[in-house]
Amino acid sequence: MRKRVMRLACVLALFFALLCGVIFLPTDDRRQAAGPLKSELQVGVVLYTGDDAFLNEMMAAVRKEIDDLNTGDWDITLVERNAGNSQSEENEIVSDMINEGCDILLVNLVDRNAPARVIETARENNVPIVFFNRELVRNDMGLWNRLYYVGGNAAESGELQGELAAALCESNPGVDRNKDGKIQYAVLQGEPNHQDAIIRTDMAVSTMADRGIVLDKLSYRIANWSRSQAKTQTLQLISAYGSSVELILANNDEMALGAIDAYRQMNYTETDMPKIFGIDGTSVGLSAVADGSLDGTVYNDKEAQGKALVNIAITVARGGDLSAMHLTNGKYYYADYYAVTAENVSDYLKQ
Ligand code: BGC
Ligand code: CA
Repeated sequence: MRKRVMRLACVLALFFALLCGVIFLPTDDRRQAAGPLKSELQVGVVLYTGDDAFLNEMMAAVRKEIDDLNTGDWDITLVERNAGNSQSEENEIVSDMINEGCDILLVNLVDRNAPARVIETARENNVPIVFFNRELVRNDMGLWNRLYYVGGNAAESGELQGELAAALCESNPGVDRNKDGKIQYAVLQGEPNHQDAIIRTDMAVSTMADRGIVLDKLSYRIANWSRSQAKTQTLQLISAYGSSVELILANNDEMALGAIDAYRQMNYTETDMPKIFGIDGTSVGLSAVADGSLDGTVYNDKEAQGKALVNIAITVARGGDLSAMHLTNGKYYYADYYAVTAENVSDYLKQ
C-alpha cells in the first residue's frame, strides 16, 4: 500500500514538474514546444494529362518548392489531379477542387482556347488561378483580374534551337550528306494549337535561314509531343525519304527521342542518321545529349517555372504584392531557355 502511494506521488510530482516547465518557458520557447504557427494554404493543381514527360518533371519541381516552404512557416497542402486530355473533365475537376476548399488553383488547360468555364467557376467563388504551360489568349486573360500565367518564352526556345542547328551545319560540312549545298530537313511538331509548337517551328527555321543556311523542307509532321507518335511519323519519313533526311528539328525532346527510336529500329548507323535537335532538357533528353545520340536541346527551365508558380500562388493567396516578380503586364511570367550541347550538358544533369 505504502509503495503504491509513493509511486503515485512520484508520478504526480513528475507531471507537475513538466507542467511548470511548459508554463514558465519564455513565450518563444513555449510556441516552439506547441509547434510554430504556420500559414495554411490548400493549392489545387490540374494537368492536361498524366502522361506528359516534361510536365511530370515540372511537377516534381513544384513539390520541391512546396516542401521547402513547409519546412519554414507555411503549411501548404497540394491537391494534384489530371484531366485525362478532356477539357470537360478539367472543368469538373476545377469545380471539385474549389468545393473541397482549395484557396488557389494552378491550371494547365487541356484546350488553351476554351478556358471560359474554368474562369467563370473560379470567379464566382473568388478563387484565383495561375495558368501554366498552355497559354490562353490575351482576351481570355482579361476576363478577370485574378488570373496569372507562367510559361516559357516560346520564341526564344525556337531561336536557340535554330542557332544550335545552324552552328552545327556551319562547323560540320558533313551534315549536308549529299553535298547539294542545302540541308534537307523535317520537323516533328507538337499539338497543332499549342503556342510552343507553332512558335518554336517558325523561329527555329527562320533563325537558320537568317544565318545563311539554305534549307530544303521535306516534311512537317505532327506528333503531339509524344515519343511513340514521333517514332511512327519518323518511320514513315524514313520509308519516304530514306537516308536523304539530313536534319530533324523536334519541338520537344520526347519527339526527338522518338525519331532516334525509329532510326535505331531501322538499323541506321550514326553516319546515315540525320542530326537531331530537341527542346526541354528532360532527364532522358539530357542523357541523350550526354551520350551523343541527340545533337542538342534547349533547356525549358522547369525549376524557374515551378518557383514562379508557387511564389505567385502564396503571394496572391496572402493578398500580397507581386511587384518584386516583375511580371509582364502584372500577370505573365516567362522563363528564359538555355542552349544545351555535349559541352555544357553536365551543368544541367547536376540540377
Ligand atoms: C513542352 C512539351 C510538353 C508541352 C505540354 C511544352 O512546353 O516543351 O514537352 O509536352 O509543353 O503542354
Ligand atoms: Ca543536302
